[in-house]
Amino acid sequence: MCGIVGYVGPKKAVPILVQGLKRLEYRGYDSSGIATMNGEGPIFVHKRAGRIREMERSLPSPLPSTSVGIAHTRWATHGPPNEVNSHPHLSSDGSVAVVHNGIVENSSTLKKMLRSEGVVFRSDTDTEVIPNLVARFYEGDLEAAVKKALHLIRGTYGIVVMSTAEPGRLVVARNGSPIVLGVGDDEMYVASDAPALIAHTRQVVYLGDGEVATLDSDGFRTTDLEDREIDKQIDEIDWELEEIEKGEFPHFMLKEIHEQPRSILRGLRGRFEREYGDARLGGLNLTPREFFDIRRITLVACGTSYHAALAASYVLEDLARVPSNVEIASELRYRNPIVDAKTLYLAVSQSGETADTLAAMKEVQRKGGKVLGIVNVVGSTIARQSDGGIYIRSGPEVAVASTKAYTSQLLALVLLALKIGRMRDVSAGEGRELLEALEALPEQLRSVLDEGEQAMTKLAGELAHAPFVLFLGRGINYPTAMEGALKLKEVSYIQCEGLAAAEMKHGPIALISDGTPVIFLCPMDQLHEKTLSNMEEVKARKGRVIAVGNPGDERVQALADVFIEVPRTHPLLSPFLMVAPLQQLAYHTALQLGRDVDKPRNLAKSVTVE
Ligand code: G6P
Repeated sequence: MCGIVGYVGPKKAVPILVQGLKRLEYRGYDSSGIATMNGEGPIFVHKRAGRIREMERSLPSPLPSTSVGIAHTRWATHGPPNEVNSHPHLSSDGSVAVVHNGIVENSSTLKKMLRSEGVVFRSDTDTEVIPNLVARFYEGDLEAAVKKALHLIRGTYGIVVMSTAEPGRLVVARNGSPIVLGVGDDEMYVASDAPALIAHTRQVVYLGDGEVATLDSDGFRTTDLEDREIDKQIDEIDWELEEIEKGEFPHFMLKEIHEQPRSILRGLRGRFEREYGDARLGGLNLTPREFFDIRRITLVACGTSYHAALAASYVLEDLARVPSNVEIASELRYRNPIVDAKTLYLAVSQSGETADTLAAMKEVQRKGGKVLGIVNVVGSTIARQSDGGIYIRSGPEVAVASTKAYTSQLLALVLLALKIGRMRDVSAGEGRELLEALEALPEQLRSVLDEGEQAMTKLAGELAHAPFVLFLGRGINYPTAMEGALKLKEVSYIQCEGLAAAEMKHGPIALISDGTPVIFLCPMDQLHEKTLSNMEEVKARKGRVIAVGNPGDERVQALADVFIEVPRTHPLLSPFLMVAPLQQLAYHTALQLGRDVDKPRNLAKSVTVE
């Protein structure tokens, strides 16, 4: 959703800000803007509704030569996406500019108070109270004025503040919305996400909730709202700039689909105890006793992460023999959940910023539950809020439709299941068998993806004009069916449903008529026979059967109108290979329909509001 970039240093700020915003485009936004100044001001503000390039194109020429600035991409919450409502916002006297992610919950009370003192508000936003409060409290110390303002604000924020009274300085604060500082040579950067900084520096500092940082060209200092100094550690970003560039691919989604052999390999590296057939996971923060005492596992997630969690629940029950259930985060958070000490909670989130997942985990923690994070973005809010966890290491995911993060999440959870299982019923031999199958996955995935490109392009031509597509799977591939349906609907806008295959006859079968495409996931596992019966039922109603199956499966091949072959693997790992052609199918269908593949309408990469 909203994105923040800020710069202070000797270089020209505007190009750095615009480039930084472009790196955050993937988060989803509907307007953008920048504010910069030189010396003592005035502050130059430039904003536009629509795409960043519109804002960039309409910048004055020559560009203002400024060396401090802040910028923002806005995803409208309070007030429509227009020029006035987009950030940065100025105080009514023009002395303070602010960009803000989050929500000021008591903005109407604060507006009333400020209006009575003569402040005139120009926008419909909650944010506009912040620069006005800072201007009101300024008495020769910008940092102190920001802190005073924040003491009055209820809600969430990641903010960057700039003032004509202290040129060459930015004050940054965080409460619930991510902020990362970038440390350069005689320059400082700030952003809501690391991709906006990586072209300039790999040295970053993740700000925590309740922390304030003051940046100028020779460095930064961090304090809390009560003015106590905080010593922050400087971290190093461990991925490369190329990972957030499309390279030879036309879209991020296609690139990320094809990155999966690599991201799986990265997720496995160093995580094997080969001799013992066990997984090595460093950051769980669980004692052997705590491991031993786990009686239930509850996974919490949204969207694609929910599907990865659902698939993982099958693996956890099978390998670890621990009852496992999955909760949609937005449901759990409001259900007054019953939390008990012997349940291990797992919050699964690619971005680590999803508001519902974060709120659900906090609710569980408040009641004394232990929550591990299964997260991709290092230093993200959920990662920081967790009591321990696993980084899935899929590398930055830019396309809104999640692909490589899905398989990496599942991988991390399979390793966790193995680890718990090895403390219980799984023998070293069985563990080794699983590890070998995991090691073979990257190559198998590569071959599936290589072969899938042409076949899925052809199939996409057929599906592009279907009004409805049904996905069916059983057992561990029931979540694959749900994920296949979600992928296709989110990028192509075709109505899709993903169901447990046997459920079809309890209602959805009414939707099947001549030519209705039904995609079956049918590996040669213990449910093979059962899925075949469901295929027969679809065939009998003249549905078009598209089956993803294993080589040599003559019965499925004979029944299916289209057969998509993926190699056999360990029965618990088949979702890794079955989901890959479905991702390709979604991509190619969207492409043929002329959709905005990487930024589908109405969707955001990271949903930081309820
Ligand atoms: C949004 C994204 C989805 C994602 C979901 C959960 O809806 O568009 O792709 O699966 O949020 O996000 P998370 O970052 O928590 O995995």
